[in-house]
Amino acid sequence: MTDATVSAKLLGLPGSLRSNSNSLAILRGLQDALPAGVGMDIRDLRLPLYDQDIDTPDAPAEVHAFRQAIADADGVVIVTPEYNYGMPGVLKNALDWASRPYGKSALIGKPVLVISNSPAFTGGVRAHQQVNDTLLALPAKLLGGPQVVVGGVGEKIKDGKLADEAVLKFAVGAIDRMLAAK
Ligand SMILES: Cc1cc2nc3c(=O)[nH]c(=O)nc-3n(C[C@H](O)[C@H](O)[C@H](O)COP(=O)(O)O)c2cc1C
Repeated sequence: MTDATVSAKLLGLPGSLRSNSNSLAILRGLQDALPAGVGMDIRDLRLPLYDQDIDTPDAPAEVHAFRQAIADADGVVIVTPEYNYGMPGVLKNALDWASRPYGKSALIGKPVLVISNSPAFTGGVRAHQQVNDTLLALPAKLLGGPQVVVGGVGEKIKDGKLADEAVLKFAVGAIDRMLAAK
């Protein structure tokens, strides 16, 4: 890790709500693999469906809390599964909430790393592309370079956490690059 990453607070967002989610397990494994001084809170994306009628200063409290959590983070790590060749609706919904207020989104200029995963060898790469496109619409400071795509994810999880050393090293390296470029 470089000096730039010695102290940082990350926000981890799993694009799946299920309790045994592989996406959540990847974030849990990363939590343990981060160097001293770098921490990551994981936040579940259970939010109301986006509705512009309620996207007002009186929006639901969980929406305000979600936006604030992004604002408070030095960087965001999104771990998405792939649903029907795309990103899950739960994640798109959350990103739509986070994208507003227009021009003032907490994601504008925010360093973001996207990781996709799937039990298939394709590793959710089509969902990865969709998340990237949405983040570029804001624009967030999306990490480019080698993409973190985890295929055959089921074999890489142990006791509810990502336990594959090579993948962990690759993903932590990407976090390092994200924070170094901050
Ligand atoms: C509605 C649905 C659609 C899916 N579509 C795909 C797909 O297009 N490509 C793929 O690789 N896996 C697909 N899967 C399998 C998911 O990648 C797998 O269930 C994964 O474990 C879900 O993520 P999670 O473990 O974080 O909950 C789909 C699963 C569901 C429930």
